[in-house]
Amino acid sequence: MNYYIGIDLGTSSCKGILTDSKAKIIKIASREYDVIYPHSGWSEQNPEDWLKAVNEILAELSEGIEDDVRGISFGGQMHGLVLLDDKDEVIRPAILWNDGRTGKETEYLNTVVGKEKLSEYTANIAFAGFTAPKILWVKENEPENFNKIRKICLPKDYIAYKLTGVFSTDYSDASGMLLLDVKNKCWSNEMCEICSVKKEWLPKLYESWQVTGKPKAEYGLKNAVVTAGAGDNAAAAVGTGTVGIGDCNISLGTSGTVFISQEGFSVDKNNALHSFAHANGKWHLMGCILSAASCNKWWIEDILRSDDYDGAVSDAGLGENNVWFLPYLMGERSPHNDVDARGVFFGMSADTTREQMSTAVLEGVSFALRDCVDTARESGVSINRANLCGGGAKSKLWRKILANVLDCEITMTESEQGPSLGAAILSMVGAGEYATVEDAVEATVNASVVSKPDDALVAKYNEKYKVFKALYPALKDVYKKAAEKI
Ligand code: XUL
Repeated sequence: MNYYIGIDLGTSSCKGILTDSKAKIIKIASREYDVIYPHSGWSEQNPEDWLKAVNEILAELSEGIEDDVRGISFGGQMHGLVLLDDKDEVIRPAILWNDGRTGKETEYLNTVVGKEKLSEYTANIAFAGFTAPKILWVKENEPENFNKIRKICLPKDYIAYKLTGVFSTDYSDASGMLLLDVKNKCWSNEMCEICSVKKEWLPKLYESWQVTGKPKAEYGLKNAVVTAGAGDNAAAAVGTGTVGIGDCNISLGTSGTVFISQEGFSVDKNNALHSFAHANGKWHLMGCILSAASCNKWWIEDILRSDDYDGAVSDAGLGENNVWFLPYLMGERSPHNDVDARGVFFGMSADTTREQMSTAVLEGVSFALRDCVDTARESGVSINRANLCGGGAKSKLWRKILANVLDCEITMTESEQGPSLGAAILSMVGAGEYATVEDAVEATVNASVVSKPDDALVAKYNEKYKVFKALYPALKDVYKKAAEKI
């Protein structure tokens, strides 16, 4: 029997799955690790913690079937900055995708270099979480660390490098560095110059399903190939079958993303959506909110000190709740691009209940995703159906809220393990089990409708959304003033 391993290097944990060649999940293993928040709005992790987690997961999943593992691949949290010195040692903790320290550098890139030039060089404008502004931050604030740089890579590529000894990345993940010319799929000379990055510091580029190497002998997986893998959103899109023109996948993980698969390269008006390469060799558009299921985790576990997610909410009176929640716990990426934004509850009165506030959290995240969906709709993409994955997708009520806030049908695959399943599928293509990513998806992924919008509830949420939409502009300047005090 041939086995495949897909690893999802996430932010709160690393999840690995072992599948057969039809992507049937045989075994799951996961390890949690810490996020370090050195300041409000900053977030870091130790790459060594990721490596320990992945090594343990690989050993657990392959135990007793080492020689039958044919392929390994990755979906990884995107944009994280990993810096290695001349001995391949990690120079400083990785600065993550939801870190907001680079407000100044992002503004420099967008205004001094200019959005037009950035879009010409990379197909994107700068957002605080992207990799390039972080490189500028390290150069300015930690020159001693900057001078030690010999390699720059993304989280999953650090793991793949340790696993294989091959310094590689893939186009989908590299798209989020703001160093890649996404249209022409090569590193941008201009961006390397702007960020003082030597091209020899950057990994070799591959398509996501291409074989980059084999695990080093000490892993004992002698018949396995390692394929380049993808950013977690592109990997999730493969795992949920989001590879056709206009197909949409929504992820409710630590971040929330709206991912739209495209046939050809395109950039939307004002670069409001990210324009990135897809893991099937094509392209996609994407909106990303920085805090999604993480808002619910924060609210239920840290604030309510509970673990009862389903018991905190009920669908009685849905759409009639007069409480709103702005989910900007780590600032916001799409569409506001504002590192100073923060979470807000609005509209409470003396009779507001805990249940209403818990429901407002689910609704607030759904409204923030609607901001992204509406941006896509305004640019001509029609979204009548979206697949849902990520931890938040397990909540039946959240699925119902999303279907009605977005006015679209929600589908799900059998498992909500989008990125790891996508990674396993990419490894199957690399190992020759299937000829193309599309063939592999066709043979392995099935989705079915789990929630449909209801006209009356859609109308109620349309009204509630109007208030949500008015809140950020009303607070924008206040957020800035509050940030100056921190
Ligand atoms: C996408 C993004 C997040 C991370 C989460 O642009 O920043 O979805 O990839 O891991």
